Amino acid sequence: MSVTQQQVLDTLKTIRSPRGVALTEASVLSAITVNDGKVFFSINVEAGAARAWESVRAEAEAAVRALAGVSTAMVALTAERRAGAAPSPPHRHAPGHTQSRGGGVQPVAAHRPPQSPTSPMSRQAEIPGVAAVIAVASGKGGVGKSTTAVNLALGLRDLGLRVGLLDADIYGPSVPRLTGLHEKPELNDERKMIPLQRFGLSIMSIGFLVEEDTAMIWRGPMVMSAINQLLRDVAWGTLDVLVVDMPPGTGDAQLTLAQNVPLKGAIIISTPQDLSLIDARRGLAMFRKVNVPVLGIIENMSYFQCPHCGSRSDIFGHGGARHEAERLGVPFLGEIPLHMSIRETSDSGHPVVVSEPEGAHAEVYRAIGAAIREQLKGVIAAA
Ligand SMILES: Nc1ncnc2c1ncn2[C@@H]1O[C@H](COP(=O)(O)OP(=O)(O)OP(=O)(O)O)[C@@H](O)[C@H]1O
Ligand SMILES: [Mg+2]
Repeated sequence: MSVTQQQVLDTLKTIRSPRGVALTEASVLSAITVNDGKVFFSINVEAGAARAWESVRAEAEAAVRALAGVSTAMVALTAERRAGAAPSPPHRHAPGHTQSRGGGVQPVAAHRPPQSPTSPMSRQAEIPGVAAVIAVASGKGGVGKSTTAVNLALGLRDLGLRVGLLDADIYGPSVPRLTGLHEKPELNDERKMIPLQRFGLSIMSIGFLVEEDTAMIWRGPMVMSAINQLLRDVAWGTLDVLVVDMPPGTGDAQLTLAQNVPLKGAIIISTPQDLSLIDARRGLAMFRKVNVPVLGIIENMSYFQCPHCGSRSDIFGHGGARHEAERLGVPFLGEIPLHMSIRETSDSGHPVVVSEPEGAHAEVYRAIGAAIREQLKGVIAAA
């Protein structure tokens, strides 16, 4: 039997705010989404009070999760500086409501106890069993980050590593499409989500949990809370590398993510065009700001490879990313051609490394994987 919104509300009535008011009376609840046993909502509080609310958030989440018929409960704490007496968020998704960035939204990191600035990893505890979490990022969208992330994960798998793939692109999860996976993860005895298995990879995506348009309206802190759950409420098991497909851009949400995920390194994807390289520089600056080492730059859609004759044309003036990497003093990890079969295989849920394992493209991804493994020497035992 499926849980109802009323049952969720009845449960929340029994939970008290830090000031002793029933949660349902505290004007802090967002819309409550109940969908096929999955429950999502946020608690929106003043920035200054966020810390006091964390235990309430955890309590609410545990209580909802314990309800019969609930398979997933995700409760986010969002902290805002409200201008005057702002009304509490509506109890239904307002049409046209878009993600509010910057301004009043405080990054979640702002509510954590201060950490030593020299110790980037201390911001977030490492994930037990996972040797290295690495981000695949780009300054701008559409440069092939997700395609590269999935094929790279497969390339690393081919090198004998145990690999996971986490789709952290809350605003446009594409791992379900790239892998053909659409099932909902099951829970283990400890009520942790079991990542889906495909092509020998352990895979999680926010797209397995929510409808795409639900996530679109989330704000920065809520995004971080969801990412934290995807990292920590998942039974990842033992992994050498967890590849994280990041949301595009270098805005607040991305910065918060870069700051809070225990990253061993980041890979920047760029295309050869100048504009994209400027964005790549921005991406680089973002990771440097939060002390995450940049493992290198990959040039995607580097040159055009004719699907018929295999001839190569440098239509974008190829080599820009290699040059830029040298200039910036970061490793250049390799170049991936613009090729129809890379696009087609991605779109059909059979990435090129699994659909054409003997092909030249698979070789390219494996070579880049080897370069990354080299960068991670000393971090992953198998390297
Ligand atoms: N090397 C390539 N050759 C041909 N097509 C490619 C290549 N890399 C990516 N694509 C195609 O380009 C499109 C965008 O790629 P992808 O979704 O991986 O980019 P992204 O950077 O993750 O985008 P977003 O910013 O929206 O997350 C997809 O249709 C993908 O199949
Ligand atoms: Mg993507």
